[in-house]
Amino acid sequence: MAKAAASTSVSGVDTRVPHSARVYDYWLGGKDNFAIDRAVGEAMIQAIPGMRYMAAENRKFVHRAVRDLVAKEGIRQFLDVGTGIPTPPNLHEIAQTAAPETRVVYVDNDPLVLAHARALLTSTAEGRCRYLDADLRQPQSILTDAVLAKTLDLTKPVGLTLIAVLMLLTDEDDPWATVAQLRDAMPSGSYLAITHPTADFNPDEVQQAVAAATDAGMTLVPRNRGAVASFFGDWELLEPGLVPVSAWRPDEPSAGSPQAAYYWAGVACKP
Ligand SMILES: C[S@@+](CC[C@H](N)C(=O)[O-])C[C@H]1O[C@@H](n2cnc3c(N)ncnc32)[C@H](O)[C@@H]1O
Repeated sequence: MAKAAASTSVSGVDTRVPHSARVYDYWLGGKDNFAIDRAVGEAMIQAIPGMRYMAAENRKFVHRAVRDLVAKEGIRQFLDVGTGIPTPPNLHEIAQTAAPETRVVYVDNDPLVLAHARALLTSTAEGRCRYLDADLRQPQSILTDAVLAKTLDLTKPVGLTLIAVLMLLTDEDDPWATVAQLRDAMPSGSYLAITHPTADFNPDEVQQAVAAATDAGMTLVPRNRGAVASFFGDWELLEPGLVPVSAWRPDEPSAGSPQAAYYWAGVACKP
């Protein structure tokens, strides 16, 4: 199998254990996944038949939220933590289509994402894209990194994006404290965009998916609306608030229920 052979050439990638970035890549139809990721991905699809749809809806939210932050709110710099394996259009491509001068710092701690970072660094000449190999659980290591300081101006509003990543931190990791440290480092007028899987819409299916992930050694912590709302602290949610991901400013009215994708999504502004 070509992928397994390739694994030996990517430093730090362990193809014997599934990884969230690669399982998600599998659901999105990508090719950067291994047999173990596909097996877990399929087990989770058994639990949640709409899993691929959910992943696609999550990506569409990224497109809409970033587009609006650039075009409507004037944001010209982003800090994206938990970037994932490149999936075009990537965040910087969406932002720079609207404003070519936009600067983006991508952060992830997966060696396979690092191996693909070049695809994330195809900035326009006017803008800039940089990649940080860092861990969300150590926010100060992100905030004090020289690459961030050289790329972003933290005296000007930032678009901080934490898209489908906080469920990979356990409550013991205290993701609320982590996000608070990131929020505190952002100036007034900054925005925070979050998506987070939840059991609120279909507890049975989500519980089975969590069991499949846990059995395979992966962390997956769905959170209820209140727990997700807490990530925004005292920042003010933009319309339409914290809603099912498909209901956040949809480009077209959805034919089905917005609760068919089991994610909460919101964007808030720092007062
Ligand atoms: C499900 S993917 C989401 C990718 C992208 N944000 C999106 O929604 O399309 C989660 C990503 O978060 C990364 N990740 C998980 N834990 C992390 C951590 N502690 N620090 C940084 N990145 C992390 C994983 O490596 C993976 O690439």
